[in-house]
Amino acid sequence: MQAVILVGGFGTRLRPLTFATPKPLLPIANVRQLEHLIAALGSAGVTRAVLALGFKPEPFFQAFPDGTCAGVDLHYAVEPEPLDTAGAVGFAARDAGIDSTFIVMNGDILSDLDLAALVAFHRARGAEGTLHLTPVEDPTQYGVVEADADGWVRRFVEKPQPGETESRVINAGTYVLEPSVLDRIAPMQRVSIERVVFPAMVADGCLAALATDDYWIDTGRPDTYLKANLDLVDGTRSLILSSVGANARVSATASVTHSVIGEGATVDDGSVIIDSVVLPGARVGSSVRLERSLVMGTVGAGASLTDCVIGVDAVVAPGSQLVAARVPDPATMG
Ligand code: GDD
Ligand code: MG
Repeated sequence: MQAVILVGGFGTRLRPLTFATPKPLLPIANVRQLEHLIAALGSAGVTRAVLALGFKPEPFFQAFPDGTCAGVDLHYAVEPEPLDTAGAVGFAARDAGIDSTFIVMNGDILSDLDLAALVAFHRARGAEGTLHLTPVEDPTQYGVVEADADGWVRRFVEKPQPGETESRVINAGTYVLEPSVLDRIAPMQRVSIERVVFPAMVADGCLAALATDDYWIDTGRPDTYLKANLDLVDGTRSLILSSVGANARVSATASVTHSVIGEGATVDDGSVIIDSVVLPGARVGSSVRLERSLVMGTVGAGASLTDCVIGVDAVVAPGSQLVAARVPDPATMG
């Protein structure tokens, strides 16, 4: 089976980190997010992953020079212009010659979903498409789904207004689709799968959905990106990864608690790191205090950072006291 992974978004909410690295290539506990997704697809029997790319494709080519990831063959489908979610699925699936049941995944989620069970559910229903659903507290930033007891979707509302629907169950961003769904997507047009294609399939009564309470997280915001990292090192997930990457150098007098230290990063004497991610290659000077922060660049000695996001080229001056800062501030950048 083949899978299309949507990785063409801009990663706006994770700036400045995504100025340097597209969101799907940012590591989550030292493994690129895309690699987590493709490993899960591979375990479910996917042999080729089609990357639906737009914005900045080159880092993807460089990240997987032999054209495979987690033992799965890659196919790159680079859109000439952003075609939105359905346009991107249509473009990528046609580019890869997909002509049998396939999986689609948003590139900015992580979950412990049993993909093979989703495919089996889809086949048992005889659906044209099947969505994975997950419960959330505040559904307004998601695609909200109302389904009946037999697993058929009755309503799909993308980013509903408060009060527009009672449902707290959302589209979790993994789909099983029949190739006939491609006939619903006009080639080379900007079309949203959530706003156009799914509502049309609901009207035709052919869109099914499986809700599960597996671990699920949207990694697109600094707080959720941080949580996705920490959940992989503290036993929250079924998978537990090491919190210190290869060739990282952490001083014996530094204290690192509930945090991830990236490959090749350095943490100097006397620093205290709590609930934070020090990304690959970052430099944390001596006596620095980091709390709930994401650091890609350099933090000078004695600085104290709480709820901060520090980009790859940023240098935080020694002794700085920063709270909820982004350096550089994306609001002042192009
Ligand atoms: N190739 C390509 N081209 N990819 C795109 C494009 C495009 O024009 N636009 C968006 N994407 C990719 C993004 O990179 C992301 O992986 C995925 O499509 C979904 O787009 P987002 O912009 O992240 O959407 P969202 O997070 O607001 O909502 C989506 O995800 C929610 C779950 O996290 C929707 O699918 C919601 O219905 C869903 O609940
Ligand atoms: Mg998203």
